[in-house]
Amino acid sequence: MKENRGNFSSKLGVIAVAAGSAVGLGNIWRFPYIAGENGGGAFLIVYLIFVFLIGVPVMLSEFAIGRKAGCNAYGTFKKLSPKGAWWLVGLMGILAAIMIFSFYGTVAGWTLEYVKKAICDEFAGQDLGALSQSFSDFTTSPTMPLVWMVVFVALTALIILGGVEKGIEKVSKFLMPLLFVLIIAVCIRAVTLPNASKGLEFLFKPDWSSLTFKGVLMALGQAAFSLSIGMGTMITYGSYIKKDTPLTATAIEIASCDTIVALLGAIMVFPTLAFLGAESTGGPGLVFVTLPAIFQAMPGGYIFAILFFLLLSVAALTSTISLLEVPVSFLVDEFNMSRRKATLLSSSVIILLGVFCTLSFGLLSDFTIFGKTIFDLFDYTTANIMLTFGALFIVIYVGWFFGRKNFVDELTAGGRGNVVLAKIISIIVKFIAPIGIGLVAIGTFVIGGIV
Ligand code: PHE
Repeated sequence: MKENRGNFSSKLGVIAVAAGSAVGLGNIWRFPYIAGENGGGAFLIVYLIFVFLIGVPVMLSEFAIGRKAGCNAYGTFKKLSPKGAWWLVGLMGILAAIMIFSFYGTVAGWTLEYVKKAICDEFAGQDLGALSQSFSDFTTSPTMPLVWMVVFVALTALIILGGVEKGIEKVSKFLMPLLFVLIIAVCIRAVTLPNASKGLEFLFKPDWSSLTFKGVLMALGQAAFSLSIGMGTMITYGSYIKKDTPLTATAIEIASCDTIVALLGAIMVFPTLAFLGAESTGGPGLVFVTLPAIFQAMPGGYIFAILFFLLLSVAALTSTISLLEVPVSFLVDEFNMSRRKATLLSSSVIILLGVFCTLSFGLLSDFTIFGKTIFDLFDYTTANIMLTFGALFIVIYVGWFFGRKNFVDELTAGGRGNVVLAKIISIIVKFIAPIGIGLVAIGTFVIGGIV
């Protein structure tokens, strides 16, 4: 491939970078509120099944074809199947990456504002009502959320310009473990709050009557979103993995890290809600309202709050880096564009769309399509429709067209890894995953209409 393509230096490098992509606002911001809106415990069980039974095989499928081809999401399909129309799957993934970054950038921008609020000690003495009010005052304002969104996209672009090795790997390896330690500390405080058991019960005691078919689709969409699969990030990252690294264990480790952080994210939020006596369990403001409340109840909460929101923005950054890498590597590989030009072009488009997403909470809140604001529409369609169908086509491609021998060879790096496990996964990819994803997608469509 092109001489400016890098490689991850070690297996730890791959895990750190792919986990950096997976762990982000999806775990701390999106998972708790989607789980809350869909009934808690029952949603959680379905989610876990999807992550390991479908998510891991999809991630492995992406790694395998990405590494085999050594290309971006589109080029991988074009190279492996020049005659078919599979490249459309790659193209849809690139579009999904741009759309996800556009609304993700809004929320990532909020985290920067919350770093500022934490530094200025603005949470002090605020009760739930005041915290919700200040969240909505900020998100509905027409200026600062835009400024922070642009700052965030620009920051991502700067890191992408540094290249794969230098930029992404270093940032991920150092800061993610730190965030993890902080989350554990906050969780310990959350579960020791008065009334915490009510929150934990909501999260861990399944109430099946509260789970709808649409909730099942949302669980699948959330699994795909959280693992960064179904749209080409892991294909692109796969292209940077060295040929002699077995893939299976790597994917399981990444999915486990991601799931643990999502669970911890929810453990921070729900006991705190129960402690505050709050009724609502959903909405995109959920963590931005509950976390400041728990910091107030922690010794050293002032410092915790600053560090937490700072590291949360870093977690978001390692995810947006992986999102931007998708269109950038596409433009570099396919149009021979310089990395610099590709980065500028992609981030400009993202900022443009990001403006509409960011203003969805204020100026454009009345502008809706299918009853959803632009932000909600981007969020819903990418996770639940584009990633779900992306994942479906990827497993169909790998299961039925890529060749079982090729797949097992990639998973085990030519026999170095566990061959039996690789064969089991190839069966899941061929039959179980496509049927599972297909049933959820069709079922939702038939029962409720997809949007
Ligand atoms: N997985 C990321 C998160 O949970 C979001 C993301 C989705 C990143 C798709 C890349 C691709 O925050």
